[in-house]
Amino acid sequence: MTKSLLTCLLTAFILSCSNLRAEVNIIPRPTQIIEGSGEFVLQDEQTISFNHPSISKAGGYLQRILTRATGYNIPVKKGNKGQIKLILSKSTPTEDESYRLKVTQNDVTIEAASYRGIINGIASLRQLLPDAIEKRSIVSGVKWNVPVVEIKDKPAYHWRGLMLDPSRHFYSVEETERFLDHMALYKFNKFHWHLTDGVGWRIEIKQYPELTRKGAWREFRADIDEACMNRAKNENNPTLLIPEKYCRTENGKTLYGGFYTQDDIREVLYFASVRGIDIIPEIDMPGHNWITTQCYPWLSCGNDGNDPLCLGKETTLEFCRNVYKEIFDLFPYEYVHIGGDEVDRNRWNNCADCQKRIKEKNLKDVTELQAWFTKYMEKYFNQHGRKLMGWDEILEGGVSKTATVYWWRGDHADVAQKSTNMGNEVVICPTTFCYFDYGQDNNTVERIYRGDIIPADLNAQQLKLVKGIQSNIWGEFIPTEARMQFMVFPRALAMIEKTWTPKEAQDWDNFRLRMQGQLSRLKAAGINYRPLETNQP
Ligand code: ACM
Ligand code: ZN
Repeated sequence: MTKSLLTCLLTAFILSCSNLRAEVNIIPRPTQIIEGSGEFVLQDEQTISFNHPSISKAGGYLQRILTRATGYNIPVKKGNKGQIKLILSKSTPTEDESYRLKVTQNDVTIEAASYRGIINGIASLRQLLPDAIEKRSIVSGVKWNVPVVEIKDKPAYHWRGLMLDPSRHFYSVEETERFLDHMALYKFNKFHWHLTDGVGWRIEIKQYPELTRKGAWREFRADIDEACMNRAKNENNPTLLIPEKYCRTENGKTLYGGFYTQDDIREVLYFASVRGIDIIPEIDMPGHNWITTQCYPWLSCGNDGNDPLCLGKETTLEFCRNVYKEIFDLFPYEYVHIGGDEVDRNRWNNCADCQKRIKEKNLKDVTELQAWFTKYMEKYFNQHGRKLMGWDEILEGGVSKTATVYWWRGDHADVAQKSTNMGNEVVICPTTFCYFDYGQDNNTVERIYRGDIIPADLNAQQLKLVKGIQSNIWGEFIPTEARMQFMVFPRALAMIEKTWTPKEAQDWDNFRLRMQGQLSRLKAAGINYRPLETNQP
């Protein structure tokens, strides 16, 4: 028998003898599934009940999921009498993300010890309903059934992140919220928002209005904007076209851009919090600030409007503190990301102010100058009850034990070893697996699923310092939401299973079947995922 015939027969066997693949198809793979027989059928005028006021928002969220495509009226009521019950089993806040989902022919119960546990249970219920539940408008003729099942589930890692970069190419509030909703469907819980970079400042800072009046708009850049337009033409791919909605004309010039007002930010934060997602804002410092210094040249060495920020001047430090103060006032989550990557530190060698600082602080060189700045800012973060995170360059020149390191440079393979050896927590996001802006011809779903994304040589003590995995979606060549979805899905499904499901329970053949089953759900959700059979990167 050929291998492919054997695979076909095996697949048919699995599908026919076990409802598990046909009906209970959940990604990431849950810890325990006990199947029953029969089904619960969602009907008009059934009720969602919640037993504790702190989960009423989750009730509203589930209501939106259950009514959007069905058109049903499903009220949300306090108590425990609903056909769909949300039960918070502890009244004190906890980080426990586990949940139990029990479906009988009469009712559905989601029980958890935390808000996020309830949200995780809702994500599983969402995946047990027919795909059409993800449609944005009413679909008729569907039986909204859920198989009878009991699921007990908890994640291996608490940090399950995705990062978007609206600086290079902008994504509206609506597009960002859709992204967050898709994150929630697959139990991602950290949204890292790279809000500033050298080519675009995307968040309103009241004290420095030039950052968005000027810094949020640019003429088309050859390296990213025109490059996208050229690729769109050469590859006959409209998802690479720069959207007109992000262009405007000023003094006869076409400008590209956009930014989030502080009200926009508050709206997105609320949207994310309903879905149990924390937002980690990143204001990248001291590098990736060309546009910042164009807006306020006094921030640069020699006032020449060039990257990076001048760390010798008190006025720069004051700017950094003031910007972050507004960030702290907006974003409630305890972690904030300072960036710190790819700084052209050489410029500080030729700046009298920077050299003066180096001397005064008894530093060895410009590398230590950045390390000094990071520690200075960390103190400021801590005074405001926040914890600092940064890209792995923050290790250079010395880092405090309390900073969290994002291992991103795949060619610096020792970062996770080094950081955890020193007692620093790490988020794993190396270019070698986690860069979703990289083509999918090499970094395939299978490669991601089979790979040791968390390095296999970390010992148990070091593994405790691994917060989890994050995938980064840099925006240089991702000018539209459709292109972004193409780059993210279905890879993100492999990544979430690597993060949620313990290594022993990860199984490529089993995952592949479930992933294939999820593609129709992605389609129903309107996600422009990359078809498995294409060779388009
Ligand atoms: C990075 O990719 N520069 C963090
Ligand atoms: Zn300087």
